[in-house]
Amino acid sequence: MRILGIETSCDETAAAVVEDGVRIISSQVASQVEIHARYGGIVPEVASRQHILTIIPVIEAALAEAGIRFKDLDGISVTIGPGLAGSLLVGVNVAKAIALASSLPIAGINHLEGHIYANWLSSPHHLEPQFPSICLIVSGGHSDLVLMKGHGDYVVLGRTRDDAAGEAFDKAARILGLGYPGGPAIEQAAKNGVALVKLPRASLKGTCDFSFSGVKTALLRLVEAGRLSSAADGAASFQEAVVDVLVSKTVAVARERRVRQILLVGGVASNGLLRRWLVESSPLPVLIPEPVWCTDNAAMIAVCGYFHLKAGKIDGLGLDVIPSLKLA
Ligand code: KG4
Ligand code: ZN
Repeated sequence: MRILGIETSCDETAAAVVEDGVRIISSQVASQVEIHARYGGIVPEVASRQHILTIIPVIEAALAEAGIRFKDLDGISVTIGPGLAGSLLVGVNVAKAIALASSLPIAGINHLEGHIYANWLSSPHHLEPQFPSICLIVSGGHSDLVLMKGHGDYVVLGRTRDDAAGEAFDKAARILGLGYPGGPAIEQAAKNGVALVKLPRASLKGTCDFSFSGVKTALLRLVEAGRLSSAADGAASFQEAVVDVLVSKTVAVARERRVRQILLVGGVASNGLLRRWLVESSPLPVLIPEPVWCTDNAAMIAVCGYFHLKAGKIDGLGLDVIPSLKLA
């Protein structure tokens, strides 16, 4: 079964073809990072206009890379939320047009569920995901701890009370003058630094919630007071504080819930320190997609679409965007 996935929730225009929910036949991602970098963050209006310009070429490139035409597809899936309304609209309307013209079943996908399903993509040391599992979803807009009981069956146990993990990385990078996007910039800078300062870790005991605004403010105060030896040391200290909290909460909740695995997903899951630290601290198998499938892409949307369509979850052409879509 070949599914075309389409993703336009934020600042990447992406299309991919995935076979049987595991094999990537093609994947194209047109990033708008350089366009938004000059503003220091994503400008929604600019993002949606850019999606309009790139969506058709990106889909054509994904089909060309796969060596197929629309008639060779068995279904189509598209992100309907959460995300920027104007951006989501571009992908959803193009997906509906293709579904109508080619008589294909369509599945509307939650972007966060898409991130989780990146773990089904086959890779060299691939472990099959098992239920129940604990998913840590860490992206630009979310830091969620989710109990996954089966396909499409989620209980959100905790979330961030202020900044998402990726958002915190982006803001910290701005404070340290490291540019945008912040996550990769902090990780790179931290390689030349030492985590000399112990920045505060909000434990929020008794809950599965996170809070990252305190550590960001503490970093800002250090910079303002001129008490940081270098941006690299600031990056190392910040990265360590955020990763420490993410790992300790995730391992604690996985133990408490007696799950079989931990799934780490979302853009921040491409962070090397987080990947290593979680694997080393967890008594359970930890599944993490290859870094390239952690950040926004359409292959994960196609995988998720495969499981939706296989389960008979087919949407009609009345499908619409839901910018504040929740997981459970
Ligand atoms: O999942 P994603 O690509 O888009 C959203 O759905 O938000 O996540 C983007 C976020 C950004 O905040 C970015 O700074 C962060 O993921 N990120 C990282 C790394 N790569 C991307 N954070 C830490 N370390 C990284 N290597
Ligand atoms: Zn994402």
